[in-house]
Amino acid sequence: MIRKTFAHSAAVAALALASTLALAQAPPATLTIHADQQVSPVSPTLYGLMTEEINYSYDGGLYAEMVRNRTFRANWDGVEYWYLVEKGNAQAKIDPDHQTGPSEALNNSIRLDVQQASPENQAGILNVGFWGMALRPNTEYKGSFYAKAAAGDLGPVTVSLVQDQTGKAVATATVSGLSTDWKQYEFTMKTGAIETSAANHLTLTVGHAGTVWFNLVSLFPPTYRGRKNGDRIDLSEKLAAMHPSFLRFPGGNYLEGDHINERFEWKKTIGPMVDRPTHPSPWKYQSSDGMGLLEFLGWCEDLKMNPLLAVYAGYSLMGEHVKPGADLEPYVQDALDEIEYVTGSIDTKWGAIRAKNGHPEPIKLTYVEIGNEDQFDKSGSYDGRYAQFYKAIKAKYPDLQLIATTPIKSMKPDVQDDHYYVRATQNFHDANHYDKVDRNGPKIFVGEWATREGLPTPDFNAALGDAAWMTGLERNSDLIVMASYAPLLVNVNPGGMQWESNLIGYDAVHSYGSPSYYAQVMFGSYLGDHTLGSKLEGGSPKLFYSITVNAAKKRLYLKLVNAASTPQPVTIDLQGAKLAATAKLVSLSAHDTQATNTLEHPDQVVPVNSALPVSSHFQHTLPGYSIQVLEFQQQ
Ligand code: AHR
Repeated sequence: MIRKTFAHSAAVAALALASTLALAQAPPATLTIHADQQVSPVSPTLYGLMTEEINYSYDGGLYAEMVRNRTFRANWDGVEYWYLVEKGNAQAKIDPDHQTGPSEALNNSIRLDVQQASPENQAGILNVGFWGMALRPNTEYKGSFYAKAAAGDLGPVTVSLVQDQTGKAVATATVSGLSTDWKQYEFTMKTGAIETSAANHLTLTVGHAGTVWFNLVSLFPPTYRGRKNGDRIDLSEKLAAMHPSFLRFPGGNYLEGDHINERFEWKKTIGPMVDRPTHPSPWKYQSSDGMGLLEFLGWCEDLKMNPLLAVYAGYSLMGEHVKPGADLEPYVQDALDEIEYVTGSIDTKWGAIRAKNGHPEPIKLTYVEIGNEDQFDKSGSYDGRYAQFYKAIKAKYPDLQLIATTPIKSMKPDVQDDHYYVRATQNFHDANHYDKVDRNGPKIFVGEWATREGLPTPDFNAALGDAAWMTGLERNSDLIVMASYAPLLVNVNPGGMQWESNLIGYDAVHSYGSPSYYAQVMFGSYLGDHTLGSKLEGGSPKLFYSITVNAAKKRLYLKLVNAASTPQPVTIDLQGAKLAATAKLVSLSAHDTQATNTLEHPDQVVPVNSALPVSSHFQHTLPGYSIQVLEFQQQ
């Protein structure tokens, strides 16, 4: 009796388990792939980077400068991020000075008046960096400053990197013999066996009474590929891992500025730093312009990206526009000069200036974008402005492809830039957005897009939305020549973020990739050159895929996205190819849509590689909430 009852309950339990299991799985799917049927080309430049000065992307981000407000801009509160140092019985004061500076562009300075100081009790200035200064053990830091002394007897300037908590100088350099004229001084400091930390600051002090003025105080750690005035290594490596084929710069809103006189004026961003006046970014902080036009191009070279140059086209964000016709001509000329600066030989005016700036070789340029998001120009002037730029640029550079930022009526642009900032659900519903778009219209550049869920960086639901969307980009890459996620970077310190949901987060020391970042890495690493004939039957509505081939490498790349919480069984029927017995499986998955990475926990959602036994007809089950790439090797 007891046994019977037990057997009965076991049977009931087994039934219940079976039905739970049935419910706990999405309806099975069958994916048939015809490896011998290439359907459409995939653009080799499909994935790239979009960038601008937002969220402290360059200053306090990729651009490795450690000194914040190196040009001593002042507000009602004093000179921002700079403070007075008085050791022991030293006495001094600091003031912004608008009467003297090292150049026409930097015609201001900080004035340090030292009433009393000695070599043991020094006085000077300190800078707190961008939420601290990252110091690492046994590392060399290279710096410079411009200075002018009132008299020649001030003695040496001591430069130190000081720990905030201990007050200990962990690296020091001495610069002697200040001139009474503005002059640049260079120094190098090296740390010893310290612990890596951001809780440090920089001091410049003197041990003698007198007056000294400073400007352009600069300090760099080792940079990516050792580039002078270069980029942060960890961030550059993360960007390189995305295999980006192009870089769209300098914006975005940053190109336009809030007002016409706050646009990205490229001519003020080239040459020595002392000739760069800096300018306000529309994201409400001043840009040092250390990341200027030539630095963007250097970044392209370091990561082997094609530059996609956006030129200012006569519209700024507060609704100001320049009328097409004579008023617009100077801006058109400015764009022509800019293109010549990038592409011209050293025999051209602007090519020669580029050579003087340190880059004699002309740089290849294929795409130029005319403006940014000109649909916001309610005056309706964009048709005329685009046409005027188009005519002038094509006359001189007929091979350049010119991108319009919004549909225009008067002509067919070469390429049209579409932007999408959406929630995951929208991307699940819209993954086939371009399937039916007219192939006779302009080519498409999806120049900014992101699933915006999670802040400061996207969560796993956003990554699922992104991956679903990217399957559609790949399927339609005969039309979509390029696409770039935005924004790319965010400094996660308080006050660092102006825009929610950004691909990569960081502070002064560490950085991490969001789940969306890893989805980008996966899609960018396994692109393929053609889509293949395929058919998906059954499965949940939240199952997405893309199948491409790299013919030369004899590899097939199957991307699968299961945006449902339940596992998704898929029967894969791979016809027309002889496959190696195992495929490489790259899997990114999470237990919940809210799962994410942070600065403290950067590796909670990361891709996992494994080997998957495969055949021409096999079963594969995707975990709930997962993004996978299967790389098949053809024999
Ligand atoms: O990516 C953030 C902003 O979104 C860009 O600057 C602008 O082009 C868009 O509106």
